Amino acid sequence: MKRSYLLVAGVAVAGLVAACGDSGTPSQSKPSATAASSAPAQAASAAAPKAVTVDREMLAAFAPLPKEAPNAKNPSTPEKVELGRQLYFDARLSKNHDVSCNTCHDLTKFGVDNKPTSPGHKGQLGTRNSPTVYGAALHFRQFWDGRAEDVEEQATMPITNPVEMAMPDEKRVVETLTSIPQYVEAFKKAFPEDKEPVSLANVGKAIGAFERTLLVRGKWDKYLEGDESALSESEKAGLVAFMEAGCQTCHAGPMLGGQNYQKLGSVRPWGESKDQGRYDHTKVDTDKMLFKTPTLRNIAKTGPYYHDGSIKDLSEATTKMAIHQLGKNLSEQQTRAIVRFLEALTMDAPPAELIKAPEAFPSTDKTPKADPS
Ligand code: HEC
Ligand code: HEC
Repeated sequence: MKRSYLLVAGVAVAGLVAACGDSGTPSQSKPSATAASSAPAQAASAAAPKAVTVDREMLAAFAPLPKEAPNAKNPSTPEKVELGRQLYFDARLSKNHDVSCNTCHDLTKFGVDNKPTSPGHKGQLGTRNSPTVYGAALHFRQFWDGRAEDVEEQATMPITNPVEMAMPDEKRVVETLTSIPQYVEAFKKAFPEDKEPVSLANVGKAIGAFERTLLVRGKWDKYLEGDESALSESEKAGLVAFMEAGCQTCHAGPMLGGQNYQKLGSVRPWGESKDQGRYDHTKVDTDKMLFKTPTLRNIAKTGPYYHDGSIKDLSEATTKMAIHQLGKNLSEQQTRAIVRFLEALTMDAPPAELIKAPEAFPSTDKTPKADPS
C-alpha cells in the first residue's frame, strides 16, 4: 500500500498519509481510493481551512439510502403499515402492559434508548445494547449475532422474551389482540387472505412492514448523490480519514454496516468476553466473537457503543476499532477527523407523521389485565 490517497490535504487531515504504511490492514482491504484536492500544492502547509475534494470513485463502497426496503415475502400495504405502527407502540403486547417496542427503540431518539442495556419486564436487563430500528430492515440479518432473518421474524421475538416484553405465549398475544375489536378489524384488512389473521407471525409481518418505512435520509445521502456542499470541509476530511484507516472494509453499503459478520478483535484480540456473539447461537467454533458489523448511520446519537454498550464515547469506540479491527493506532487528530465524519451520518429530523404514536385502540373487559408477576 504505497499509494497515497491524499494528493493534497487540508490541515485537518495532515498526518493521515502516514497511516497508509501501517501493516495491520486486513487482507480483505482493497481500498479503491484516491483523493485529490483542488487546492494548489503549497497551500497544504498554510493554516487556513482547505477545500477537500474527494475523488468520487472512492465512494463506491457506499450508497445513498434507498427509498424503499421491500420484502417479497411480506408485500407492503398501507393497512399493514398502519397496523404495524399501532402494534409498535402498544405496551399491551407486554405482560405488564408497560413495555412496547418503542420503549427500547424510541423513534424520537434515533430508534434507541441510549442505555448500555435496556430494562424490560420488571426492569430486568438484557445483556446486549439496543440497536437502532432506523434502516434496520436493510441489514442482511437482524440482531448483533444475526439470529433472525429479517425484521418480520425479529419482531415476533421480544414479545415472548422473558426479560423484554415477557408475554407467556402466543396464545396470550392473540387473546389480547382479539379482545379489541379495532385490532380484529385491522388484522382482517391487513391480511385479507388469511383464515386466522390474528397471529404472532402476522404481528411480526405488520410491525416489519412498519419498520420498512423507517428510512430517513440525511446530508450524507445528498453528498453521495453529488451535492458537494452537503458536507463541510472538515466532514470531508473526516471521510478521507475514515477511508484511509480502512473502516469501510467492514462498514460499507447504504447503512455503513449491516452487511456481514466480523470478528470483534479480528487483528488484535478483544480479550475476555462472556458474550461470544454468533457462537452463542450456532455453537460453531469459527463463529466465536463474530458480530454483525453494525450500521454507522446516526452513530453519534445512538451511544453507548458496542454490543454490550460498554463504551460511552464515540472517540473511544473509534480508536478501539482501529486497534482491534485494523491494527492501527490513530493519532488524536485522525480520531477527531473520523468522529467529525461519523457525526455527519446523522439523519434529518424524521417527518412527524412517520413516527407519531397513534391513539391506542381501547381495551375491553375481555382484554387480559396487566400482570406484574
Ligand atoms: C427491553 C428492550 C427491548 C424491547 C421491548 C424490544 N427490543 Fe428490539 N432489541 C433490543 C435489544 C437489546 C436488541 C439486541 C439483542 C441482540 O442482538 O441479541 C434488539 C434488537 C432489535 C432489532 C435488530 C436490529 C439490528 O440492527 O440487528 C430490531 C429490528 C428490533 N430490536 C426491533 C424491535 C421490535 C419491533 C420490538 C417490539 C416488538 C422490540 N425490538 C422490542 C431491545 C428491545
Ligand atoms: C474488520 C471489520 C471492521 C472494521 C475494519 C471496523 N469495524 Fe467498526 N465494527 C465492527 C464490528 C464487528 C462491530 C461490532 C462490535 C461489537 O459491538 O461487538 C463494530 C462496531 C463499531 C462501532 C460501534 C457501533 C455501535 O452501534 O455500537 C463503531 C462506532 C465503529 N465500529 C466504527 C468503526 C470505525 C470508525 C472504524 C475504522 C477506524 C471501524 N469501525 C472499523 C467491524 C469493523
